[in-house]
Amino acid sequence: MSYRISVVGLGYVGLIHAVGFANLGYRVLGYDVDRVKVEKLRRGSPTIYEPGLEEYLTRALSSGALEFTDNIEDAVLGSDVTFITVGTPSLPDGSVDLSQVASAARGVGRALRLKRGWHLVVVKSTVPPGTTEGLVAGILEEESGMKAFKDFGVASNPEFLREGSALRDFFKPDRVVLGVRDERSRDTLLKLYEPIEAPKIVTTPKVAELAKYASNLFLAVRVSLANEVGVVCKALGVDCYEVLGIVGLDHRIGGHYLRAGLGFGGSCLPKDVRAFIRLAESLGVQARIARAALEVNEEQPRRAVELLEKHMGSLKGRRIGVLGLAFKPGTDDVRESRALDVIRLLLEKGAEVYANDPKALDNARRLLGDKVKLVENPQELVDAVEAVIIATEWSEYENLDYRGKIVVDGRRVEGARRTAKVYEGLCW
Ligand code: UGA
Repeated sequence: MSYRISVVGLGYVGLIHAVGFANLGYRVLGYDVDRVKVEKLRRGSPTIYEPGLEEYLTRALSSGALEFTDNIEDAVLGSDVTFITVGTPSLPDGSVDLSQVASAARGVGRALRLKRGWHLVVVKSTVPPGTTEGLVAGILEEESGMKAFKDFGVASNPEFLREGSALRDFFKPDRVVLGVRDERSRDTLLKLYEPIEAPKIVTTPKVAELAKYASNLFLAVRVSLANEVGVVCKALGVDCYEVLGIVGLDHRIGGHYLRAGLGFGGSCLPKDVRAFIRLAESLGVQARIARAALEVNEEQPRRAVELLEKHMGSLKGRRIGVLGLAFKPGTDDVRESRALDVIRLLLEKGAEVYANDPKALDNARRLLGDKVKLVENPQELVDAVEAVIIATEWSEYENLDYRGKIVVDGRRVEGARRTAKVYEGLCW
C-alpha cells in the first residue's frame, strides 16, 4: 500500500518533510493555518530559503504528488498518516510552549471523528517526553471519541534535520527513530520509511522524544566545550583550530561540532537545551552541564565586542559592520542568531551598526527595523565602516577586501585574515 500523508504545520520542518515525502513518491497534503503561506507554496514559491528546496518543491507540485491546503479536515481525511510538525518555542521560563501542538492535535482529532478506517498520527515536533502518549493522545481521544493506540495510532518520530542541509538530511539521515506503542503504527512507519536507507530504531515514544533533546544537548555542549578550549587557546596565543583538529582525530571524539566561535544559535539548540534544563529540574535533577553550555554560549558575543573595544576604545558613535545575520550559512533563519546578540551589545554601546547577509536581510529587517543599516552588498558594507565583526561564515565573505579595517572574526573566515589591517580571531 502506498500511504497518503498529511503534514500539519508548514514551517521549516513541515515543509521539508512535505516536499521530501512527495519526492519519495508519496501523495502528500501539506496543511497550514496561514492562508498566505499556503497560496505562496501552491505557486511553487518556497517560504524559507533552503538549498535545493525550490527545485524539489516544483518537481513535487508538477507531478501532482504534493498539494497544499488550509483546511485541516481535507488534509486528514485525504490521508492515512498525519505528521504534526508545528513549532514548540520556549516560554519565558525556558519550558516548552505546547499550545501549537495542542491546537494541531485538536484539529486532527476533530477530523478523525469523520474518518472511516484506521489513521496514524505522528508527532514530529520536538516535545518533552510523555507529550505524545499524554497530551497528544489525550486530545485526539477527546476530539475523535475514539481510543488511541487501538482505534487509531499515535507515534513519535523526531527529526534531526539541520537547516542548510535539511533535504540531504531528510533523504540520508543517520537514523530514523520510531517511538511506537502498537504494532500497526510500527509496521506503518517502517513501511513508510522503507525508501530511506538508514538504521531504523523502534522504541517507545518517551525514548524517542528524549533522544531528540539529548542529541541537541550533546551538540550544544560540544560547541560550548570547543569555545571554552578556544578561550584558553586565545589566552595562550595558540590556534584552537589546530588544537581541536588534533582532538577531533580521536575516533572516540570525532571532528564534528568542534568549530569554536560565536557559539550556537538557531531555533533548536538553545531552545532544546533550555527545555532539557527545565525538564531535569521538574524531575529534581540539576542539569549542570546543560546550564554551563548556555553560559559559555552567552559569553561569546560579549567577547567579540570586547576584542573590538581593545582595538578601538569606546564604540560610541563608531561605524561598525556585522557580516552575517543568519544563525548559520545556508539559511535565511535569524532566530536566536548570535549576530543579533552582537548587534544588541553594539547598540548598547552607542555604535552605529551596519549589517549584511546574503539571504536573511528580509527576516532581519522585520526584527531590527531601522535600528541597523542593512546593506545589500557586503563589500560596500566593509568600505563604509571602521571595523567589522564576522558573525556568520558565508563563503561570500572569504574574498572581500578588508584592507584598512579592524576585523574581529567570530567564525574563522580565513580570507579576512589576509587583508585586514588588524585581524582578531575570537578563539585563535
Ligand atoms: C540542529 C541539529 O543539528 C539538528 O540535528 C536538529 O534536527 C535541529 O537542530 C532541530 O532540532 O531541528 P540546526 O539548528 O539547523 O540543527 O543547526 P546546526 O548545524 O546544528 O547549528 C546550530 C548552531 O551551532 C549554529 O549557530 C552553528 O553556527 C553552531 N555551530 C555548529 C558552531 O558554532 N560550531 C560547530 O562546530 C557547529
